[in-house]
Amino acid sequence: MGPGASEGGDGWRHEALGPVLLVLGIVAIELVARFLVRIPNPPALLVLVVVFAAFHGGPRSGLLSAAIAWVYLTWSFSLPGRRFHYSPDDLMRVVIWGVTIPLTALMVGRLKVRALAAERAALQASNERFTRAFQGSPIGIVQSRLSDGRILDVNGAMLEVLGYGRDEFVGRTSAELGLWPSPVDRAAFSGRLRRERALRNIDLDLRTRSGEKASLVCSVELVRVGDDDCALTFAVDMTERRRAAEALRRTEEQLLQAQKMDAVGRLAGGIAHDFNNLLSVAGNAAAVLERTLPASSPSSAFVGDIGSAVQRAALLTRQLLAFSRREPRQTRPFDVGAMVAKLEPFLSRTVGDSVALTTSLAPSLGLVLADPSQIDQVLMNLVVNARDAMPDGGRLSIETGEVELDEASLAGLGTEARAGRFVVLTVRDTGSGMDQATITRVFEPFFTTKEHDRGTGLGLATVYGIVAQSGGFITVESAPGEGSAFKVHLPRMDEPALPAERPQARSQPSGTVH
Ligand SMILES: Nc1ncnc2c1ncn2[C@@H]1O[C@H](COP(=O)(O)OP(=O)(O)O)[C@@H](O)[C@H]1O
Ligand SMILES: [Mg+2]
Repeated sequence: MGPGASEGGDGWRHEALGPVLLVLGIVAIELVARFLVRIPNPPALLVLVVVFAAFHGGPRSGLLSAAIAWVYLTWSFSLPGRRFHYSPDDLMRVVIWGVTIPLTALMVGRLKVRALAAERAALQASNERFTRAFQGSPIGIVQSRLSDGRILDVNGAMLEVLGYGRDEFVGRTSAELGLWPSPVDRAAFSGRLRRERALRNIDLDLRTRSGEKASLVCSVELVRVGDDDCALTFAVDMTERRRAAEALRRTEEQLLQAQKMDAVGRLAGGIAHDFNNLLSVAGNAAAVLERTLPASSPSSAFVGDIGSAVQRAALLTRQLLAFSRREPRQTRPFDVGAMVAKLEPFLSRTVGDSVALTTSLAPSLGLVLADPSQIDQVLMNLVVNARDAMPDGGRLSIETGEVELDEASLAGLGTEARAGRFVVLTVRDTGSGMDQATITRVFEPFFTTKEHDRGTGLGLATVYGIVAQSGGFITVESAPGEGSAFKVHLPRMDEPALPAERPQARSQPSGTVH
């Protein structure tokens, strides 16, 4: 069948063009011949048109034209006045042209059909190659309309990255799917694509079906499909690689931080240890002096000053020793919740009236193995810091609970977190909060942002040392203006706080055992 025939509405017009031209040509030849000159060889002209008809419209059109041409020739070669009677020469011509014209039409028509078939096969092969490359590509490809983000086509790799099935993806818009975390991003993206026509290696974060973030590196081409501008996006999924790089960075940071704390701890502990010995000598000497000096002596006030200075210095060195984990400890299993309950009245006096203290204690909490007086100190230091962060008042909450951490849940928990079952003591305030630079330094000894006589920078260093000595770790969540939460994680002892009900004694065996 002719190529035009299968093309529906346009087909017959295509096929009819040749014959119509032919008829018009014949009329023109007749008119010219009648009123002007004789045309030397009208059949040759007709053959040209027939060939055109066959080439343009295919064999059917060629044959129809040939038939018209032949009827005209048999008519125009007839003897004057006697239609369809010929001189011998003209009869010869009628026969020759009558054979030549349809044969030519047929041949040209067939050539055309064959050329078309070859063209079509090449197109199909190219289509197939494209479809294979598109579908099989390990790079995600998606074609979407730029105006509204409607997805026109997508390949398997892209569907896999975004977690969608083809049917729920194609035909919907990116807004319906919620692909862009914010519509502003999409608007900026399409604006830039319109201006630059192609984008190379840009970072895009899209949302997957399950709501997670997929980090992609994309190259985008603007292509015209019909009347629409379309974005052809090629995307490589970087989510895993970024995650791995982030994990590596975190591990490096952890290592550095641990090394730093260790070095500072050794130094501080070494100095504090020797210093403490010197202080005991000075303290003892002051005590002896105090006893032996007569009460009326003008020096006794100075001796008193020496004594209290020595005491303050001893407190400082004790804190340093706690940080460097050199303080002797008396550990026993105890309940952190009970400790908080016991200290609560004291703590609420410490924070003053402008701060509302609330506690939220888990009803049954695992025991921890630690020195209770040290954990008291941890809580005290955290509460005092919280108070200092809320000079204009605010809310302070102390919570206890338990958490079980696995490797996957450690991300974002700070540098020292590790997996396991923990009792968590949280001290949360609505105070000034801290920026990231401060957060990374808070546990360093002598790091303080407070005025000279208000902060020693040893509170959190002590907390850090005690918690580490107890086998736990502490995490910080804070942002400027958004308050802070310090979470002390202490390893949970395996026995639950209250002895669990014993399982029922098994019923007597009914049979006898031989
Ligand atoms: N709850 C908190 N809110 C805001 N900043 C805090 C908080 N706790 C600690 N910080 C910051 O950490 C620093 C170190 O705290 P710390 O070791 O207790 O020393 P100090 O309290 O003597 O300054 C503080 O100076 C402060 O900048
Ligand atoms: Mg402090």
